[in-house]
Amino acid sequence: MAEHNPFPGENNTGHVWDDNLRELKNPPPRWWMLGLWASILWVVGYSLLYPSWPVGQEPTPGILGWSQMKEYQEGMAQVEAKRAKFEDQIKGMSANEILADPGLKQYTLASAKVLFGDNCSACHGSGGQGNPGYPVLADDDWLYGGTTAKIAESIAIGRQGAMTPHKDILTEAEIDTLAKWTVQMAETNGEGGSEEGWNLFKTKGCTACHGQSGNGVLAELPGGNIVTVGAANLTDGIWRFKPGGYESARYTIVNGVNQPSNPDARNAVMPAFGQTGQLTDQEIKKLVVYVHELGGGQ
Ligand code: HEC
Ligand code: HEC
Repeated sequence: MAEHNPFPGENNTGHVWDDNLRELKNPPPRWWMLGLWASILWVVGYSLLYPSWPVGQEPTPGILGWSQMKEYQEGMAQVEAKRAKFEDQIKGMSANEILADPGLKQYTLASAKVLFGDNCSACHGSGGQGNPGYPVLADDDWLYGGTTAKIAESIAIGRQGAMTPHKDILTEAEIDTLAKWTVQMAETNGEGGSEEGWNLFKTKGCTACHGQSGNGVLAELPGGNIVTVGAANLTDGIWRFKPGGYESARYTIVNGVNQPSNPDARNAVMPAFGQTGQLTDQEIKKLVVYVHELGGGQ
């Protein structure tokens, strides 16, 4: 071929097309070859040191014995060790003591956030902002009280406020007056209920549960504790049952709340997490701190 090479002396392979297109034999640049050899060495070195070649189900282990799983487990063990320190401390403390210790409080809130998401947010909303039929936990309006003791009780033994259905106790006109009175109360923070409404409220047994002033509180004890049966506060403009307003109030007065014998009654059941064993005492304690700090703890 070389003898037919029209470009003798040129560093070509002798392959020529269309008279002058030819294939040259220039070596790759030196830096490129060095890079190629270096990368080959690197692959060999890496595959000796680290898990690499798939053999059966497992890769070759590598001289260093490193594995992703091992690194993950070591990381988890470190986290656990850190956690254990806090968990041990919390075990011996009351919710109030945890609240008074900024470091422990911060740890408890972070850890309870997950518990709240898993166990509570389906009903109370992810930030405790409530859902139709489920009370807001992120405010200072409490059915049962916002001290740590009351919150703990709510979570551990559950709650189920009951209101008598009044459809056979009151006349249509009385029900109408009371439903209107409830709306007036909600709109004026308990100042503007009609006299007619107040009279019925006080004489038809409502005060036994909703309190003399309609705010749901039967007695106030020292230390922020309140005595209630879980009856809604009718003076704060917060509707316990949605959508609120006249029809909603009327429905509650007619049908009551949590009445097994009346399928039309409102349902308001807070599960007893301590009794069902769904949560441990330690978890409940963390949740008490969390709920207390959502906005309205007393
Ligand atoms: C199945 C729905 C449901 C779940 C889940 C639930 N709750 Fe409740 N919770 C309720 C209802 C309904 C009430 C109101 C009960 C009543 O009206 O008597 C309530 C009431 C409460 C109260 C009392 C509020 C007050 O104003 O006094 C607290 C505190 C509370 N829940 C915390 C929690 C925590 C913490 C969790 C998670 C461990 C949780 N709840 C899970 C439905 C639920
Ligand atoms: C046996 C106790 C009890 C009696 C008596 C009672 N209530 Fe209630 N009431 C409750 C409870 C408990 C709730 C619901 C609170 C909860 O579950 O969150 C409630 C809720 C309500 C609501 C709904 C408020 C809202 O925000 O949606 C209205 C309105 C109401 N009551 C009015 C009355 C009136 C008017 C009377 C008297 C005719 C009365 N109640 C008598 C216990 C009672």
